[in-house]
Amino acid sequence: MLFNLEPKDRREDLYDFDRELRVLERALLMSKLVVVKGIKRTGKTSLMKTALNVTGLPYILGY
Ligand SMILES: Nc1ncnc2c1ncn2[C@@H]1O[C@H](COP(=O)(O)OP(=O)(O)OP(=O)(O)O)[C@@H](O)[C@H]1O
Ligand SMILES: [Mg+2]
Repeated sequence: MLFNLEPKDRREDLYDFDRELRVLERALLMSKLVVVKGIKRTGKTSLMKTALNVTGLPYILGY
């Protein structure tokens, strides 16, 4: 579902974020606070949701 307007949450739907996904996965496991910042509509929420799913960490999402 590459053209779905909602944020992606599966690795196979997330395009060209392999390095960012690895960095965020590691940060989520090692840090108490992680900030993802960037220009509007560039995939921040998609990256975050996918990383949370990949790590298997429990999470609550509000936005
Ligand atoms: N790397 C990506 N692979 C696939 N789809 C993407 C990617 N980055 C962004 N998109 C798509 O672009 C749109 C915006 O993505 P997303 O909502 O994750 O960005 P955002 O940075 O959190 O946006 P906002 O600034 O509005 O919060 C969505 O349709 C999302 O599915
Ligand atoms: Mg967002």
